[in-house]
Amino acid sequence: MPNLAWVDGRFIPLEQAMVSVEDRGYQFGDGVYEVVRTYYGKPFRMEAHLARLERSAEAIGLALPYRPSDWQALVTEGLARAGYADSKIYLQATRGVALRDHAFPARTPPTLVMTIREMHPLAPALSQAGVQAATLEDQRWGRCDIKSINLLPNVLARQRAKEAGAFEAILLREGMVTEGSVSNVAVVTAGRLATAPEGPRILSGVTRALVLELAHKEGIPVEERFVPVDELRQSDEVFLCGTTIEVLPVVRVDQRTIGTGTPGPVTRRLSLRFQEMVSALA
Ligand code: PDD
Repeated sequence: MPNLAWVDGRFIPLEQAMVSVEDRGYQFGDGVYEVVRTYYGKPFRMEAHLARLERSAEAIGLALPYRPSDWQALVTEGLARAGYADSKIYLQATRGVALRDHAFPARTPPTLVMTIREMHPLAPALSQAGVQAATLEDQRWGRCDIKSINLLPNVLARQRAKEAGAFEAILLREGMVTEGSVSNVAVVTAGRLATAPEGPRILSGVTRALVLELAHKEGIPVEERFVPVDELRQSDEVFLCGTTIEVLPVVRVDQRTIGTGTPGPVTRRLSLRFQEMVSALA
């Protein structure tokens, strides 16, 4: 089967997948999601993604009829049906189909959707050379730790970054770096890695947690704190991390060169350790 979807308990080709226009995800962005990728056909850090899906759903008062083990079984079946060497798995749960009213509907089952597409990783040239980022005001709400499908501020930020010739937006709240529009951000100065702390201002990235684990193992000092924009611009190294972009060096921020304008040693080391860990899953 080509790209596929699972909707209303059935697997169908992706282009045939439909939900009602009265789905609360469509009308209110009332839902949560996860993006998981596979390496060597196996879902990567699936438990962490499913745990975050449960946390997100609980935080918006959405009772999920599926437990992590149910999702696991579903994903296994979907991957077998899709048959790709590597896949990008998208899971979404919304508060279901109901007459439009802001308050929660009574007794409406959530709409659960999964899609599986072929995974197309970033071009290796991008991670070898590094990318450009543009700083923008973080206009998101106060619960960025919830992986909500309400992504309008992220969409606008990524678009503005793209229009400025940048790969990613680095978001600033009161002059401090929170994260990217689709990634977490780390800054390295004098060999010390700094990244925004977990909490309502950022999505607690699965890749971020792994990168911090790798940094500890490598003896790289880590500070979980908000980095001021001036420090970001004057830092030695900046990198992004996320499920689809892995560890991605940033070599320019707002037209300013970071470090030597090439991926720095700490970023390269962490990227290498990340790739080694992934290769070990083969
Ligand atoms: N985004 N921060 C934001 C705002 C994100 O949207 C993401 C991931 C991350 C990184 O999280 P993780 O390492 O768990 O993927 C951080 C996904 C990939 C997306 O929306 O497509």
